[in-house]
Amino acid sequence: MNANEYGGVVDILSDALGRGSIQLLNGESRAITHNVTFPEALQLAATVQRLGCRSTAETGMAYGISSLAICAALRSLGTDVASHVAIDPNQSSEYGGAALALLRQYGLEKYCRLMEGPAHIEAPKLISEGVSLDFAFIDGWHTFDYTFIDFFLMDKLLRPGGVMAFHDSYGIPKRRVVSFILSHRKYRLLPYQKVPAFRAAKEIAASIKRGKPKLRPYADRRPSLIFLEKLETWEPNYDFYKHF
Ligand SMILES: C[S@@+](CC[C@H](N)C(=O)[O-])C[C@H]1O[C@@H](n2cnc3c(N)ncnc32)[C@H](O)[C@@H]1O
Repeated sequence: MNANEYGGVVDILSDALGRGSIQLLNGESRAITHNVTFPEALQLAATVQRLGCRSTAETGMAYGISSLAICAALRSLGTDVASHVAIDPNQSSEYGGAALALLRQYGLEKYCRLMEGPAHIEAPKLISEGVSLDFAFIDGWHTFDYTFIDFFLMDKLLRPGGVMAFHDSYGIPKRRVVSFILSHRKYRLLPYQKVPAFRAAKEIAASIKRGKPKLRPYADRRPSLIFLEKLETWEPNYDFYKHF
């Protein structure tokens, strides 16, 4: 991979993650945590570029690494009308506006609209506005119920042919949501590279050592970041239920 391959996105992410911290407006410095990894950020950017996205959204912004990847990819597509919506209730209170400072540092703030509230309050506003998304990234509160609601609402916004990505997808709550999607909606899990066997074995061994064995989450070597393509807008009959 060379630096120009992703239209400058590689440079921006290398620089931001290489620094490892963000300078806030008040001069305070914050270490970057909770973020998608460099290869994952590149996968997000590559998906935005592949789909030629104009409209994207994410739940869970934190220090803004996923937002940075998505906004840099939108800019690389060479239009001023592209926009990204980041939904997070804690950007000011917990993160001191760090993600916005990060976007500003790379001249990307104009691509991002922050909705500062929980996704179940903010995403319905986008539905009322008639927003149509090409790409959605789910990385907010990780329990089954919140992830499920993030999916339900983002699905209302995502156009057919669009893609929805999930982070930390090997965890049971996210797995249940993905199983629901594949059994109750028309989506396709896009092919992924399996986690190397030795790394899965290491995770299993570590979980056993912690006294909380996690065989199932790692046994099939599903990576943290997965992508689902929306094949069509479809819902089953009102009383449909399939075990998932
Ligand atoms: C794992 S971090 C996101 C990391 C970010 N995507 C990145 O790659 O840098 C999870 C984020 O979800 C946010 N969050 C918590 N509850 C939420 C909710 N109900 N709706 C949306 N975001 C939420 C947290 O404030 C936190 O910033």
